[in-house]
Amino acid sequence: MDLDWEQTEHDAKQRIYSAASMKELQEARVTYLGRKGLMTEIYTALAAAPPEEKPVIGQKANQLKKVITQALQERKEALAREEQAEAALDVTLPGIVPRVGREHLITQTTREICAIFERLGFVIQEGPEIESEAHNFEGLNIPEDHPARDGFDTFYLDAPDPDHPQWNLLLRSHTSPGQVRIMKEHTPPLAVVIPGRVYRPDAVDASHSFMFHQVEGLLVDRNVSFADLKGLLTTFCRKFFGPEIRMRFRPHYFPFTEPSAEVDISCYLCDGKGCSVCGRKGWLEIMGCGLVHPAVFKAVGYPKGKYSGLAFGLGVERIVMLRYGIKDIRIFFENDTRFLVQF
Ligand code: DAH
Repeated sequence: MDLDWEQTEHDAKQRIYSAASMKELQEARVTYLGRKGLMTEIYTALAAAPPEEKPVIGQKANQLKKVITQALQERKEALAREEQAEAALDVTLPGIVPRVGREHLITQTTREICAIFERLGFVIQEGPEIESEAHNFEGLNIPEDHPARDGFDTFYLDAPDPDHPQWNLLLRSHTSPGQVRIMKEHTPPLAVVIPGRVYRPDAVDASHSFMFHQVEGLLVDRNVSFADLKGLLTTFCRKFFGPEIRMRFRPHYFPFTEPSAEVDISCYLCDGKGCSVCGRKGWLEIMGCGLVHPAVFKAVGYPKGKYSGLAFGLGVERIVMLRYGIKDIRIFFENDTRFLVQF
């Protein structure tokens, strides 16, 4: 009998194991074990074979039938298991929504503040959190014996400043040193906002943290006036707090600006009538500002009298707390997702 037994077995197994459904498997069964199938053909040929060949062919035929039967059974069980697993998968069940991270409220707000100034032509710059005495104080017209230093309690590092070995490095106590860095590197006209973390060794309570965020602003050109400063900050406050907001500029003192002012907005809660949030004043202080002091220009090497500039600095946490009525600054840094997911 002229049959390649090995090849036939191989082809049969291939066909059976690749059957993708019970229907395909049934078709394979008919091909091999059906009444007009291959095995029937083989046994018919066997009957007609010369007697001396019959035992060998008979054994091979039986072996082939056994292999095919076994393969059909195995494949049938596997398909049944697959069908069962599919039935257990209920595609109508609602999906499991993955928990997606989001930006922290402070980051969101910092970006929002910067974006308003960007639209007005300002560029965002960042400075280092580890600063030198030269940038954090001296360059801003706050020499060592200056009483204004008392207002800027500072974390000092146990590491000397490589450029001024008589001073230690420190954690910047405000973003204003960024002004000095920008002016040292660029000549006017320039307009930058400098967002970042600042550090002060304050005892932590509902309104104080040893680390918080500020956004600093600086614009230097020729003939920059206090009117420009008022116009700029009024535009900002209307965009950020809404067009109804009222503002006032209160004279103040900062060593690096002259004249200097603090900016108040009408209280969001009582609209200026006086309540517990604004301490019955009707106004909320939101930032410091002024025209850049000539001593600051001198320290960065700008020619005397050539330029004038405006500067401002605001505390991000404070603004966020006012805007959302958040009473305790510590909640920003506790990473409690019940708080964070609300924004
Ligand atoms: N650096 C000040 C502070 O941390 C805030 C400030 C006030 C920044 C007036 C300024 C400014 O640029 O002009 O309290």
